[in-house]
Amino acid sequence: MSSTSLPGGTWTLGDLTVTRFGYGAMQLAGPGVMGPPADPDGALAVLREAVALGVTHIDTSDAYGPHVTNELIRAALHPYPQALHIVTKVGATRDPQGGWPPARQPAQLRRAVHENLTNLGLDVLDLVNLRLGDAQGPRPGSLAEAFGTLAELRQEGLIRHLGVSNATAEQVVEAQQIAPVGCVQNLYNLAYRQDDALIDALAEQGVAYVPFFPLGGFSPLQSAALSAVAARLDATPMSVALAWLLHRSPNILLIPGTSSAAHLRENVVGAGLALSDEDLAELDKIGR
Ligand SMILES: NC(=O)c1ccc[n+]([C@@H]2O[C@H](COP(=O)([O-])OP(=O)(O)OC[C@H]3O[C@@H](n4cnc5c(N)ncnc54)[C@H](OP(=O)(O)O)[C@@H]3O)[C@@H](O)[C@H]2O)c1
Repeated sequence: MSSTSLPGGTWTLGDLTVTRFGYGAMQLAGPGVMGPPADPDGALAVLREAVALGVTHIDTSDAYGPHVTNELIRAALHPYPQALHIVTKVGATRDPQGGWPPARQPAQLRRAVHENLTNLGLDVLDLVNLRLGDAQGPRPGSLAEAFGTLAELRQEGLIRHLGVSNATAEQVVEAQQIAPVGCVQNLYNLAYRQDDALIDALAEQGVAYVPFFPLGGFSPLQSAALSAVAARLDATPMSVALAWLLHRSPNILLIPGTSSAAHLRENVVGAGLALSDEDLAELDKIGR
């Protein structure tokens, strides 16, 4: 059993135990998630601070940069502490305009898994999410060929666990018929709650749900009710949003992104904010 002083404690996913307070590395790449950061040393410092704070779950992708965040993670943290688990995703690439075209053909997925292994300096990837849909959100359609390819790579010993991202509830079920699904990573936060039913269903099955854009992503969460609760608690809206997610369901794992070590420390403290029943009831109305 591992223990943590981080808010939310830990979550166990098969043979991996991760802190529910994790870190999303996307913000470490340059503007538009393209190219290197303006302050590479600052980016390395954020990653080292996350580990120093006890974070054991870092979310990344070779699409960030592309390759930039994985290379930063390797430069900052390799050889990795045994407790640290790096979760990556495949299924999208980048075009010169900064778009995110899908790359879900079997050969593309195989190449992406090998590139992640090389760029992260690993022999086996702890968890790989298959990113579905597009920048506008999930899209219906079979994932069988793509997820089947990742299941083969898992059988070959290159991946320990699989997940899906930007997925519909139907695609989660289809994936589970092909191979075990350890987590679902979808857009969800206090103001955007399309996946409420999916989160509850996954909680019953013991499957982790990892909301991306927990703080609103590129457009920070704004709501009068959120600001009112934050003011009453003498806290920031970001703290309230993170604490609310930890309260929302035990299977929710946080991966807030930041390029600032100070924001990272604020978020750790903020996620531990105590919310009363009255606060929760008020916040619950925001995204409904
Ligand atoms: N599966 C997918 O398709 C997908 C899509 C998007 C993201 N993701 C993953 O999800 C992670 C989280 O998403 P995200 O990083 O895009 O969005 P986010 O966590 O919702 O928000 C990040 C933004 O909040 C700001 N921020 C963070 N803490 C702050 C604080 N204490 N005070 C003020 N501002 C603060 C950051 O700016 P600063 O840098 O200035 O702190 C950044 O602009 C990503 O890092 C990535 O790993 C996955």
